[in-house]
Amino acid sequence: MKRIALALFCLCSFSYAVDYDELQGKMLSLSCASCHGTDGKSVAVTPTIAGMGKSTMYSILMQYKNGQRKGTMMQKHVKGFTDAELEQVSYYFSKVKR
Ligand code: HEC
Repeated sequence: MKRIALALFCLCSFSYAVDYDELQGKMLSLSCASCHGTDGKSVAVTPTIAGMGKSTMYSILMQYKNGQRKGTMMQKHVKGFTDAELEQVSYYFSKVKR
């Protein structure tokens, strides 16, 4: 039983490719604030992104990046970020309360 728990623990900790760096996540999130509002709480037509699940947001951002998902702005914006940066920023927004 202990072994199974340990194995699960290892699997979970490896599912994040990078460690979360809160300061970097917050810095990167500033580039989203002009459209999505401070901390992703939108006051305009853009969707609120605060509190979106980390893996949900990361996969949406990757879809914009690789052209699977189209939008007016997002696929252009995400091109300026590395995959690891998109992961950090997704992590940041997932921790913001709506
Ligand atoms: C220039 C304005 C602009 C900036 C900057 C911007 N976004 Fe967006 N975002 C949009 C718009 C507009 C949409 C709606 C889809 C579209 O038309 O591209 C969107 C959609 C999204 C969605 C999908 C939301 C949903 O519910 O489907 C996510 C996630 C997202 N943005 C995250 C981010 C993140 C993270 C950043 C910063 C790294 C960011 N955006 C920066 C304009 C912007």
